[in-house]
Amino acid sequence: MSESDENRLAAALARLDAAGDVSEVEAVRIDALGKQGWISQALKTLGTMDPEARAAAAPRIQALRAELSDAIAAKKDALEAAELSARLAAETIDLTLPAPEAPRGTIHPVSQVMDELAEIFADMGFAVATGPEIEDGWHNFTALNMPESHPARAMHDTFYFPDRNAAGEEMLLRTHTSPVQIRAMQEQGAPLRIIAPGRVYRSDSDATHTPMFHQIEGLVIDKGIHLGHLKWTLETFLRAFFERDDVTLRLRPSYFPFTEPSVEVDVGYSLVNGKRVIGGSEGWMEVLGSGMVNRRVIAAAGLDPDEWQGFAFGTGVDRLAMLKYGMDDLRAFFDGDVRWLAHYGFAALDVPTLSAGVGVAA
Ligand code: DAH
Repeated sequence: MSESDENRLAAALARLDAAGDVSEVEAVRIDALGKQGWISQALKTLGTMDPEARAAAAPRIQALRAELSDAIAAKKDALEAAELSARLAAETIDLTLPAPEAPRGTIHPVSQVMDELAEIFADMGFAVATGPEIEDGWHNFTALNMPESHPARAMHDTFYFPDRNAAGEEMLLRTHTSPVQIRAMQEQGAPLRIIAPGRVYRSDSDATHTPMFHQIEGLVIDKGIHLGHLKWTLETFLRAFFERDDVTLRLRPSYFPFTEPSVEVDVGYSLVNGKRVIGGSEGWMEVLGSGMVNRRVIAAAGLDPDEWQGFAFGTGVDRLAMLKYGMDDLRAFFDGDVRWLAHYGFAALDVPTLSAGVGVAA
């Protein structure tokens, strides 16, 4: 132990005192207490001393080591505490400030239109019913008056599953929302007033067809229901949906296996600056299929067709959205392109209400 060790300790303490970060503190530690450090070296010399000299030197060297180790630990703590308070000060959040602008999602036009439809029909006393997207052939076809030999069955471009179900029924992705008519009558009986929006599937793809698309079905079952009820309901629905009182309808005789008689419904449009605008009667666009529910369908669902009658309708939700909000390519609906969604999407809080107008968000 020598005078120079005392000086070296003083120098190390001074260097520590001035250290501005943890790496400088570490340099002081290595310099003194590392393998080659001067205190470590001094400790090694103890072994070479005779007993009296060692007894005199050892406590002094140990004391030096203890003093420096304590100082290093204290300095590290102090630096870390300072760093933490600086970070806490820098990361303060003023909760009274407005939230920063952040990217926000939008409501897809299909969801928006489904909400609008539910709102319009709820006002007329319709409840929302659902059914499975993986359906059996009986609900999707047979009960809707399309037995296995029926040509309409082949026209649906159905996606079939390879295996039949336990009851021997062929399984498929539903090709329309009409099977929900059957399920609703079976589950709820009559009288009944439901709409059934949802996904449907057909093996078809071009600018106006996608393998998955959306339909909405309507069904009313009651006593003494006739075509007049159907016409009034569709007129009221389409006027509310397009938000125009001058929506004109044209009912054309048609054919669907599940309705008798069947009607196809066109809405009139006018041309304004070359664009089609709903209202007037310069031209006609087909918007939905409908009719009086076929007696066989009512019977298949377990009700007595002599007691209960009704009407049904079905239409494409995507197509209604395109007509109302002016999109022209159906495929863009399902591309998930954020630019399209930002342009055509709706703000999350634009809840459609009839009083405020369902299209106010447009
Ligand atoms: N299910 C028919 C389709 O997918 C649409 C339809 C037509 C539904 C007439 C009905 C209806 O309820 O009465 O093309």
